[in-house]
Amino acid sequence: MNVLILGSGGREHAFALKLSQSKKVNQLFVAPGNAGTASIAENVAISPTNFEAVKQLVLSKKITMIIVGPEAPLVKGIHDFFLADADLKKIPVIGPKKDGALLEGSKDFSKQFMIKHNIPTARYQSFTKDSLTEGKQFLETLKPPYVLKADGLAGGKGVLILNSLNEAKDELEEMLTNNKFGEASSKVVIEEFLDGIELSVFILTDGENYKILPSAKDYKRIGEGDTGLNTGGMGAISPVPFANTDFLQKVEERVIKPTIQGLQNDGIDYRGFIFIGLMNINNDPFVVEYNVRMGDPETEAVLPRIESDLFDLFEGVAHQNLNEKSFAVNSKTAVTIMLVSGGYPETYTNGKEIIGLEKVNNSTVFHAGTKYKNGKVITNGGRVMAITSFGDTIEEALKRSYDSIENIAFDKMNYRKDIGFDLI
Ligand code: AMP
Ligand code: GLY
Repeated sequence: MNVLILGSGGREHAFALKLSQSKKVNQLFVAPGNAGTASIAENVAISPTNFEAVKQLVLSKKITMIIVGPEAPLVKGIHDFFLADADLKKIPVIGPKKDGALLEGSKDFSKQFMIKHNIPTARYQSFTKDSLTEGKQFLETLKPPYVLKADGLAGGKGVLILNSLNEAKDELEEMLTNNKFGEASSKVVIEEFLDGIELSVFILTDGENYKILPSAKDYKRIGEGDTGLNTGGMGAISPVPFANTDFLQKVEERVIKPTIQGLQNDGIDYRGFIFIGLMNINNDPFVVEYNVRMGDPETEAVLPRIESDLFDLFEGVAHQNLNEKSFAVNSKTAVTIMLVSGGYPETYTNGKEIIGLEKVNNSTVFHAGTKYKNGKVITNGGRVMAITSFGDTIEEALKRSYDSIENIAFDKMNYRKDIGFDLI
């Protein structure tokens, strides 16, 4: 089997590593990939949203399955594109079609879905520029902090949490009438603030059956003690200690089963990952959001714990017999720490040489924003690499990753030294 992974982050490097270990996979391609995927697969420099280029690659390399890492190609309809093409329609795509991808592509759609299928979530209403006045009135009925969400994809920046009512009204106006987030904020979801502890649960589904993957907690803020600007994620820990059997049972009964059933009832044939962002409020789960892909950097902590053949699971998704596939998870703790470019998530400079990677032997290095230049690995993004380690405890796994990081250096390298601080 020849497999193509779309994307270029740590998540895609983690997929590539796991798939490269499968006996069933012959040739592995990543588009566009990074310096890490280049060492285990063949990188092809095309954009995952350029469907025609993906098609040419699939046909020329005789690809027999594609795994879609990021959300953008899914929301744009890559799976539908494959199904509509006579040459591609038999090639399985791991990732939902456009209708399922709306769970992430439209906050309004996902809230309607949750309400319709009785899935616990924050109370909300949606507004457009024609209902700006009603939006401001709705804000007056809520208690601070106020949560405003651009309906569409906004590169992870479309959610604002504000303490002052006036500021919330002003931002609502900016989003609706001044296109603060472009077309993405032509509709805005306003919802109640959920006060709890956040965690993520991931499922892989063939549309009927599902596997619950290990839970994880990510650390989104740039600064220690969860302060400062939001990032794509500065580190992750799996499993999450407070996500015990009792809590996960509630998640399965109240969230996962109604989600799968709801998709079926609504005629959405969903094949791929669902990333459920949850808030634990007094041991009850509430859904904050759905994503239609795996999380990054959560994947770099979750996938290493999966002992089963990932390709075999993907075949289960494609052939809708996921229930027949074995699924085993390592009970140890995995942590991952993200090394980022100084300045990220604001401005930073690419092209810094990364040294010391060959000295790391107790951790796995997942590349994200890296590439090769003249035989050297250089930085090529804000989030540069994720350093994953196992341990019997969170502390032990963290120590391994932090010890490994001591070997690695690049100009203005930054990382959080307190990943897991709230769980220890
Ligand atoms: P989302 O893109 O919907 O996940 O929102 C980004 C982040 O904002 C989430 O990971 C939460 O930390 C926070 N957030 C979103 N919605 C809420 C809410 N209703 N209450 C509290 N925090 C929220
Ligand atoms: N780490 C959060 C995300 O992947 O959206």
